[in-house]
This record gives sequence, structure tokens and C-alpha cells, in this order.
Amino acid sequence: MNFSTNFAWIKFEHPIFNASWPICTIMEELEWLWKSNSSAIMMKTCTLEERNWNPKPRYIELNLGSINSMWLPNLGYKKYIEFWNQLKKRFNKPVIASVAGLKPKHFPIMVKAFQKNSNVDLIEINLSCPNVPWKPQIAYDFEASDKILSKVENLWSKPIWIKLPPYFDLIHIEQMSEIIKKYNISFITCINSVGNTLFINPEKEEVVIKPKWWFWWLGWDYVKPIALANVRKFYELLWNNIDISWVWWIKSWEDVFEFILAWAKTIQLATIYAKEGYKCFERINKEFIEYITKKGYNEIEDFRWKLKTL
Ligand SMILES: Cc1cc2nc3c(=O)[nH]c(=O)nc-3n(C[C@H](O)[C@H](O)[C@H](O)COP(=O)(O)O)c2cc1C
Repeated sequence: MNFSTNFAWIKFEHPIFNASWPICTIMEELEWLWKSNSSAIMMKTCTLEERNWNPKPRYIELNLGSINSMWLPNLGYKKYIEFWNQLKKRFNKPVIASVAGLKPKHFPIMVKAFQKNSNVDLIEINLSCPNVPWKPQIAYDFEASDKILSKVENLWSKPIWIKLPPYFDLIHIEQMSEIIKKYNISFITCINSVGNTLFINPEKEEVVIKPKWWFWWLGWDYVKPIALANVRKFYELLWNNIDISWVWWIKSWEDVFEFILAWAKTIQLATIYAKEGYKCFERINKEFIEYITKKGYNEIEDFRWKLKTL
């Protein structure tokens, strides 16, 4: 039996690995990811300069999910080039960088540096970078997205991978798809958290997290139908050109199976990783393999994209 999956030119032992988010920021956490059953090591989204955390409480679990305002804390891109070198010397697993410019001109600087100073397996260009106050997310500005991709495409020798925010109007998915088709983009990650949400504690008559800006980021159950619709629509428009890495609402082997059945090629875990720690990769992967083996499948391609319609 072979449950490996090829994403880009890279072989992943199985489709499940971590999403870029807080617990992949420092070297120690990246080493844990290597020791875990995660099939790749996704590093924290980096910016040109180091950024600190917002004051606590900045992440709260709610009945149906979580809300956060972290401020994109990271150690700055140079550190992640260094980490890549340290990781690759010791470990044999795909390592993925994630970059987010706070200004459009930051993207080419970082991509160029990763190209020159590392042989990182993949770069996820994060066009859905939240928590930058007073600025629209880049992927909501189609002109800016187009410009950034045109600038980075020639600086990176491998196909580009982009991470997108949720879209709420199908026309926007169509517009982004047209941009994607123009460039050497082979993979998209759907979707980042939903921005600009507000939660109130009626008992205390106050907001639930400390950072003052209103654009708090919402995830999990609240957002699942939006995430599903985004992935489905991108799949319909782009299935010929791209692979989709799914990052939303993964808690169990059932989710992994459903999403691969429908359209995803790889699965990234975020919130469940925070809740359960590194063991979630082993648990979910083990349960997933047991389930598909019981169904008689020998490889992922036996059921990927084979969702039946009525
Ligand atoms: C606290 C927190 C921090 C995050 N930081 C990042 C980040 O740095 N880069 C990124 O691409 N996505 C980031 N995300 C988004 C996650 O990678 C993921 O897209 C989202 O949480 C949906 O997955 P989930 O439902 O499993 O949480 C963050 C999410 C949370 C909750």
C-alpha cells in the first residue's frame, strides 16, 4: 500500500502536515514537527523584519471555533533561511517557507533571498496575511496581487504556491482564478481565517480579546461552509491547472477522507494541532490509513477527486 502523494515535484509520505501558524515559529517547534508524524515541516509565515506578539489575551477558544489577533509574530525571514539550512542538514522531510510582505515590495526581497540562500522545497506566498492594521489583505486587491505575482514569478525557479483568504462573492473567486492562470502557480492553499469579526461577552459587557483593532480572525465551525464553497469553486475553475492544499476544519480522519475525496491533495492542520499537540498528526494519519485500508484502497489516487454527485 502506498499513501504517499506528489505535491509539486515533491513526494510527501502521506498528505497530512501542519499549516503555517504559531507553533512553527522557533527552531525547537520545527524540530518537534520533524519528530512528529507530519509529512512536511511548514514554517511560520515570515515578514521582512521580526515581529512581536500582541498582548494577551490574543487567542480565545469559543463554542464553535476560535478568534485571534496575534499580529503575525515571527523572527524575520533571515532566521527562517537559517532554520531551513539547519533542518535540511539533519532531517529528510520537505520544508516549506511561508512569506508575507507588509508592503508589496517585500515579497520579491524575501523570495529572492530564499531562492539564493536556501533550497527550500516550496514557498507559500501568503496573500492572505491578516493582522496588519489599516491595510486590506493583498488577495482582496486583485491589481496588487497580480503585480506581486508578476514580480516574484521570475525570482523563484519552482512553481509558486499561494495561500488565499476566504472570498464571499463568486465573482472574486473568478477574478483570482484568472490571475492564478497567468502565472506559474501550481498550488493554492484554501483558506486563511476570516477577518474582521467581533465577539462580545454579554455578561461582562466587554470584548473577548485584548488587541484593540477590530479585525480579529475567526476559525473552525463558524467558517466551514465558507471554506467548503471556496475550495469547491476554485476546484471548478482551476482543476486543470492546480492542486489544492486544504487547510480548514480538520479534526479527524473523516475530514481528511472527505476533503481528498472531493478535491484536496494535501491537508494542513492548524487549530487541532494547538489543541492536541504533535500527536494529532500520528492519530489522524493512523485512523485515516486504517479507514481507507478497510475500504480496500491501495493508494490515494484510488479515491481522490472521486466524489459522486446525485
Ligand atoms: C492563532 C492563529 C495564527 C495563524 N497564523 C498564520 C500564519 O502565520 N500564516 C498563515 O498562513 N496562516 C495562519 N493562520 C491560519 C491557519 O494556518 C489556517 O489557515 C486557519 O486557522 C484554518 O485552519 P483551522 O481551521 O485548522 O484552524 C493562523 C491561524 C490562527 C488561529
